Amino acid sequence: MADKALIQALVEAWGPPGHEHEVRALIEGYVRDLADEVRVDSSGNLICRMGSGGKKIMIAAHMDEIGMVVNTLDKPGFARFTMTGGLILVSLIGNRVRFANGTIGTIGMEGSALIPTKLPTLAELFIDFSENGNDSGSVQVGDAAALTRNFTTRGDRLIAKSMDDRIGCAVAIEAMRALKGKNLPNELYFVFTTQEEVGIRGARVAANGIAPDYGIALDVTATGDTPKNNSMAIRLGGGAAIKVLDSGHIVPPAIKNLMISRAEAAGIPYQLEILTGGSTDAAAIQTALSGIPSGVISIPCRYVHTTSETVDINDVQACIDLLVALLAQPFEA
Ligand code: CO
Ligand code: ZN
Repeated sequence: MADKALIQALVEAWGPPGHEHEVRALIEGYVRDLADEVRVDSSGNLICRMGSGGKKIMIAAHMDEIGMVVNTLDKPGFARFTMTGGLILVSLIGNRVRFANGTIGTIGMEGSALIPTKLPTLAELFIDFSENGNDSGSVQVGDAAALTRNFTTRGDRLIAKSMDDRIGCAVAIEAMRALKGKNLPNELYFVFTTQEEVGIRGARVAANGIAPDYGIALDVTATGDTPKNNSMAIRLGGGAAIKVLDSGHIVPPAIKNLMISRAEAAGIPYQLEILTGGSTDAAAIQTALSGIPSGVISIPCRYVHTTSETVDINDVQACIDLLVALLAQPFEA
């Protein structure tokens, strides 16, 4: 079953958009002995090649997580911030953030001593970094932060901040482990990408540089399995989600059908994903250069973009198995 220690290390690492260095160094440690070649491009993407010859396939998982940047300082010990990625404001009050220097901040809402009487706007939220009432200096304009929370489990459920998309990174690393030492029929480029949460920026640069024949993104998708939520036919424990479309990308039917047939041939549980809000690195790969057919293996995840993103370990394993089944055989779509 999927390596929980690997997942814990990845989700607890710090990496708001544009500041993926800590995650990249961590992943580099895991993949150095698995890949034939490892390099970092000008956008900070970590590119790991396995095998040579055959179709070039780029597999993308993003290293960054949603975060914020301080844009003004308020009273001593308080900072205002702008978002880097889709923070859910109502989930922020009372949550904690971590800055690069290790400072832990608390998010609060102005105007109310106890119970907020309305939903917050971004302008009403602040980060409290006060230490003793005489505060100066530990947080500056321009500093980046990310939400912080420990990894935990509840049965088969794995709960953490930044499952989006460190769980995709874990799936990629596990697939690399499974493929190591095999005679590979494809030339694989596992790319751990930057700045997905602010507009899928790193993946486009990497795709232009690699010029793959096909792309596969690994990312989380939402579910429709919580009370009074029938918004989509995806549930935790239902298997790997094979994307049909999202708001930025219609998967070419040949790619989707290849994924389905490989899942069925290997007995891997799967479900079909239609996501009406959000997109993935595959949308950038699909439209890079003169167009690169791309698909997505999605990990079902509840409470996306909160500090309690929740996945099921059986789904994680199904995603690893499906990716390996796709990559271990000639890729013809
Ligand atoms: Co996201
Ligand atoms: Zn993501």
